[in-house]
Amino acid sequence: MRQRIRPHMSAIEAQQLSRIYQVGDEEVRALDGLTISLERGRLAAVVGPSGSGKSTLMALLGGLDTPSSGTVSVYGQKLDGMDPVDLAAYRRSTVGFVFQDFFLLSHLTAVENVEVPLKLSQISRQERRARANELIKLVGLGHRGDHRPQQLSGGERQRVAIARALANRPKLLLADEPTGNLDEKTGHAITEILLNLNKEQDITVVLVTHNLELAEKTEIQFRLGGGKLQHTTKSTKEISSPVIEPKIDMAQDQSQEIVEPKEIEITVEATQSATKNIIILETGFCQTEATNIIHEIRPDLGIFQIPHLLNSLPFTVLENVESEKAEELRDRFEAAGCVVEVGNTSES
Ligand SMILES: Nc1ncnc2c1ncn2[C@@H]1O[C@H](COP(=O)(O)OP(=O)(O)OP(=O)(O)O)[C@@H](O)[C@H]1O
Ligand SMILES: [Mg+2]
Repeated sequence: MRQRIRPHMSAIEAQQLSRIYQVGDEEVRALDGLTISLERGRLAAVVGPSGSGKSTLMALLGGLDTPSSGTVSVYGQKLDGMDPVDLAAYRRSTVGFVFQDFFLLSHLTAVENVEVPLKLSQISRQERRARANELIKLVGLGHRGDHRPQQLSGGERQRVAIARALANRPKLLLADEPTGNLDEKTGHAITEILLNLNKEQDITVVLVTHNLELAEKTEIQFRLGGGKLQHTTKSTKEISSPVIEPKIDMAQDQSQEIVEPKEIEITVEATQSATKNIIILETGFCQTEATNIIHEIRPDLGIFQIPHLLNSLPFTVLENVESEKAEELRDRFEAAGCVVEVGNTSES
C-alpha cells in the first residue's frame, strides 16, 4: 500500500507565467501573468471559456511548450529555461498526458499501445508486457487487451489512452478535456478513473474541462479568463469516489460512443528481410524540420496534417523502419535539433 504523499509539498508552482504569440503584427496573450500553485497529490480542474488559456497552461506544465516570461516548476524541476533534451526527459519521467482525441496507434492492440512509451526504456519485453497488462486491468479493460482501437468504443479507447499515460509512472497527469469526445455517461466513467488515480495512486491530476459538474468533483478549481487567473475555488468537502469497477457495462459503453476520434499512424514500410525499427520522436521543439522530413517519407500525408500529429502527443512514433533507413533518419532528425530515439522492435 502506497503512502499518501505529504500534502504540503508542492507539485506545481507557477509565477507570473506568460505565453505570448506573435501573429503578424498582433500579440496574442494566451497566458498573461498567471500565478498558481498546487500541492502534491491534489486533483485540480482548470475551467474557463474557450480561448482563456487552459490548453496553453497545460502545454507549459507538461513541458510541451516554454513560457515567454515567468517561472514554472513541477515537482521541484524548474521548466522555464530548461533545454529541449532535459524537457523531453522531464516529460518522460514526470508527466502523463490525456487529450480529447485518443491518439492511439490503430494497428496495435490496446496492450501494445500502452507499451509504446515503455518500448525504449531499459526493461525487458516481458516486464513491459506485464506492466501494460497491469495498467489495462487498472482502467477496467482486462478483457479487451488484445483489441485494436477500431474494435473498442470511445470510452474504452480513452481508457487505453489513460493506461498509456500511466506507463512511465508519472507524478503529474495532465488531462485536457478528456471527456470532450464522449457522451455524458461514458465521460462520467472516465472521470471516475481519474478521480481514483488521484486517490489511490497518489498522482497529482490537473483536468481541463468545460463540464462544471465534473469540475465540482475536484478539490480545487482554477478559473481562467483572458489568460489570467480569475479565481480559485477550493471544495470544502472531502472528495470520495468509488473503487474502479473492472466489469463495465460494455453494451452501454459501446452504444453511447458519439464521435469518431483521430488516430495517429505514420508507418514507413520495411523491406521484407530488414530488421524493423521503431523511431520515437520527442516532439515539441523541432516541428518545422520534422514535418519536412516526415513529409518526404510519407508524401501521402498532407503537409498540414503532420504538425497536428507532431503536436498531439509528447512523442511521435515511426514504425517498421528498416535499419539502414532508421540510422539515416536518426541523423537527419538529430541534425534538425529533434530529440530522437531508435529502438528495435524485434522480440527480445
Ligand atoms: N500557436 C498559436 N498561435 C497563436 N495564437 C494561439 C496559438 N495557440 C493558442 N493561441 C491563442 O491563445 C489563446 C488561448 O488558447 P488556448 O488553446 O490555451 O485556449 P483554451 O482555453 O484551451 O480554449 P478551448 O476551451 O477552446 O480549448 C487563444 O486566443 C488562442 O487563439
Ligand atoms: Mg483547449
